[in-house]
Amino acid sequence: MQALQSSAVVAVIGAGAMGAGIAQVAAQAGHPVKLYDNRPGVAAQAVAGIDRQLGRLVEKGKLQPDAREAIVARLQPVEVIEALVDARLVIEAIVENLQVKQDLLRQLEALCAEDCILASNTSSLSITSLAAGLARPQNVVGMHFFNPAPLMALVEIVSGLATEPNVAAVLYHTAKAWGKKPVHTRSTPGFIVNRVARPFYAESLRLLQEGAADCATLDALLREAGGFRMGAFELTDLIGHDVNYAVTCSVFDAFYGDSRFQPSLVQKELVDAGRLGRKSGHGFYRYAEGAERPPVAELASALTVDRCVVEGHLGALQPLVERLRDSGLAITERAGRGVIHVGDAALALCDGRLASQRARDEGLRNLVLIDLALDYRTASRIAISWSADTTATARDQVVALLHRAGIQVAAVADLPGLVVLRTVAMLANEAADAVLQGVGSAADIDLAMCAGVNYPRGPLAWAEQIGLGYTLRVLEHLQASYGESRYRPSLLLRRSHAQGARLHD
Ligand code: NAI
Repeated sequence: MQALQSSAVVAVIGAGAMGAGIAQVAAQAGHPVKLYDNRPGVAAQAVAGIDRQLGRLVEKGKLQPDAREAIVARLQPVEVIEALVDARLVIEAIVENLQVKQDLLRQLEALCAEDCILASNTSSLSITSLAAGLARPQNVVGMHFFNPAPLMALVEIVSGLATEPNVAAVLYHTAKAWGKKPVHTRSTPGFIVNRVARPFYAESLRLLQEGAADCATLDALLREAGGFRMGAFELTDLIGHDVNYAVTCSVFDAFYGDSRFQPSLVQKELVDAGRLGRKSGHGFYRYAEGAERPPVAELASALTVDRCVVEGHLGALQPLVERLRDSGLAITERAGRGVIHVGDAALALCDGRLASQRARDEGLRNLVLIDLALDYRTASRIAISWSADTTATARDQVVALLHRAGIQVAAVADLPGLVVLRTVAMLANEAADAVLQGVGSAADIDLAMCAGVNYPRGPLAWAEQIGLGYTLRVLEHLQASYGESRYRPSLLLRRSHAQGARLHD
């Protein structure tokens, strides 16, 4: 399957933030681009804006001056929609309104060639609905860029019920030729990214609501233990709570109120208060001149430890043993159930049960649970929680052990799944369900989450790395603890684990 030739005319409709960015991408790839906006003069202003953007790249030495001129020469602002008649591909990035977009598509269908591809940059509308009632619904496809389009690599190529596979394939290869990382997906609520990312926000909001720790501490844990670029609170402050909450509500409604997507009252209250995040100067954090970030809570310990006993294999926590050894700690290893004994404490990787529950189930005293880390060899911070019978000395012994390895420690209330673990388990669960329902392949879903929202590892690859059986157990324990179907494990995880199969082909 071939990409569109770079000589093919690309039309972009809507010269706002997204349309201008998409026009720039297509022109940089060599296409003659026609940019149209129904507000007079806006397309020309957008081209001038692109020229300024490119000027900055020239100043930084990232673009040759003649390349800038050539790109801008390929961008033609037009004032009437009829000027788009020779387009081979039209990408609309107009207002997010089904009726308005449908009217536009109908107009384009009458205007453009029979084989012209009609693409929509919609983030939330159904491609199937957009194409319904058109004479050639097979030519309609989603081409969902991320903001800012020139910088973000991911493009979701969204097929509606009627989309011709060839049309999606041509667009996929065209996006690739434009230097993007395209993925195929089906027209289902949230497509890939806006669906699979929901638990990232939802689990942090829930942890906050249940008094796990404060925002700054939870954010720091997702960054420094989880390897995410931002924690959920700083990220939603950046996105804007109105926008993020609206996306959650739209996905929740589209899935008929499935509790997995339930919006958070904590976020609703911010929206109600007008605390929309950075843009309003206040969200979870304050952004006024001179406002300081609240400190991250850290546990201190006056103790020192010089030895520990590693009993059995620690599962995903095993790489911590090497780090402890490198710190000069004397380590005795013996067979057993996967616990580190340090002083009076038993330290184990969380498995989704409450510390107090697990201590009782397994007859362990002074049980301290440790959270998942992306990489225990490099993590600079980690969460722990402990069973109700844990003494201050036992807890301090664990803190001293982790300090010795150079890891800061944060206390989290005794809640199931701690912070990174429950976030990763729920992301993997949503990704698995999306694979099961044919929304995308495992490879495309992992790629989408890494390229679209900068996750440090694809959720499905992450689940495979820590073990499907373990991921499944964590979800089962979360579900049992909360008694909510929100945490029900995806059938795909269960089936793949039972079959000993991988999620990635
Ligand atoms: P925007 O408000 O910045 O720009 C929309 C532009 O479309 C405006 O210049 C407006 O004058 C023009 N327009 C509206 N109706 C029109 C019509 N009937 N014919 C021609 N032009 C028309 O909006 P933005 O943020 O660029 O979003 C555009 C689309 O991209 C929406 O569908 C949105 O959901 C989608 N999107 C937005 C993202 C974002 O982060 N802003 C990310 C991905 C997709």
